[in-house]
Amino acid sequence: MSEANAHRVAVFGAGYVGLVTGACFAELGHHVAVRDVVPEKIDALRRGEVPIFEPGLDELLARNRERLVFTTDVTEAIAGAEFVYVAVGTPPTLSGDADLSAVWTVIDELPDVDHRIVVAMKSTVPVGTGEKVRHRLDARGLGHVGYVSNPEFTAEGTAIKDFMEPDRIVIGAFDAADAEAVEELHAGIDAPIVRADVASAEMTKLAANAALMTRISFINEIANVCEATGADVVKVAEGIGYDRRIGKSFLRAGVGFGGSCFPKDSLALKQLAANSGYHFQVLNAVIEVNELQKRRVIGKLSDLLGGLRDKRIALLGLAFKPNTDDTREAPAFVLAGRLLAEGADVVVWDPIAGSDGLHGVEQVPSVEDAAREADAVVLVTEWPELQDVDWRAVGATMRSRVFVDGRNMLDPETMRAAGFRYAGIGRASNGNP
Ligand SMILES: NC(=O)c1ccc[n+]([C@@H]2O[C@H](COP(=O)([O-])OP(=O)(O)OC[C@H]3O[C@@H](n4cnc5c(N)ncnc54)[C@H](O)[C@@H]3O)[C@@H](O)[C@H]2O)c1
Repeated sequence: MSEANAHRVAVFGAGYVGLVTGACFAELGHHVAVRDVVPEKIDALRRGEVPIFEPGLDELLARNRERLVFTTDVTEAIAGAEFVYVAVGTPPTLSGDADLSAVWTVIDELPDVDHRIVVAMKSTVPVGTGEKVRHRLDARGLGHVGYVSNPEFTAEGTAIKDFMEPDRIVIGAFDAADAEAVEELHAGIDAPIVRADVASAEMTKLAANAALMTRISFINEIANVCEATGADVVKVAEGIGYDRRIGKSFLRAGVGFGGSCFPKDSLALKQLAANSGYHFQVLNAVIEVNELQKRRVIGKLSDLLGGLRDKRIALLGLAFKPNTDDTREAPAFVLAGRLLAEGADVVVWDPIAGSDGLHGVEQVPSVEDAAREADAVVLVTEWPELQDVDWRAVGATMRSRVFVDGRNMLDPETMRAAGFRYAGIGRASNGNP
């Protein structure tokens, strides 16, 4: 990109989304200032250390160092900026509504700029947020500050590729010139652009997540019926996945979804609908199925072991999915909590994620350490290295060779041949030798 086409972008929030956004805009040739309120994060980034694990992010930040500035200072971040990207957290409140306090802080902290600037919302927010931000800016006499909703669809673990090669870019604007400017900022990325009004862009993000979660809960219910009827959900998913009207993605039965987005965004959409007087039945079912799905693993283990009290259970994987260190709302945390409550001893392993916040469990550095003397192993996160474990040797060190594959990652026949009582999710002959 020529310097003439390079823009100045301020990104608020140096988390999973903010850092990827900043790094990718710098990669496109723009000058980026990333601002966060946590000084330790900013200090680490200045030293060249990346505070989160996201494949390829270290290299991307290092490669674009001369176009990236990290700061805690709003004025420094905004100086000369033409775009302000908001990528702060929007966690759930006790009611399930999205907590927008960090978003409002960013909006209220914006200095009284006299040049044209576009605020772009990357944080996932309820429909109507943009309208409220617009009023708040106008009330401050910042009518010349533009606003767009530019929701983020990246997935942790593949976020950089998702940003640089997205399925689409959604831009919701009040003013066509702002949408034009944001579209131009993405020059170099080859993707369909969906121009929309702000409310529709906001809803697109919530609807996309809801559609993906619905597929997960759907296939998990099919899995549960498979278990009751002797069918195998892996075959069923393959069979329906070839149907072009359906497609293959998000049809893997398992222990349910977790992560920093799906659980909170499902609650936020449910609340958004309820606050508007609508009872979103499908979404309510999706959430409930997901909660029950995590608990089914506990029942399965209890059946296989004849109770859980004083049983030593090894959980493999803490991150909510592979290739991230993010453990927010991770199923492993729910399973560990339930197992402890049932009187089991819990030992956990993860190649990257830590067990901070999970009290009463022992974290060990290897799969072998986790399984030694265990009564059962539960595969919770499908880390690729689990394919390469010598399971026969691992089984020989266990107290009883019970294996619950919460992601249907391993081959049932191979695991049974290695001496395990192997149970997957929605698979025929569950738990039988
Ligand atoms: N994680 C994902 O893969 C993903 C994907 C799509 C959308 N989202 C959405 O993007 C938003 C951010 O998610 P995340 O996972 O990056 O969150 P995160 O918690 O990893 O990062 C948020 C960052 O914002 C910082 N922050 C808080 N207040 C600030 C302020 N006033 N100024 C500057 N920084 C501030 C926090 O210190 C933190 O570092 C959320 O709304 C989330 O729903 C996340």
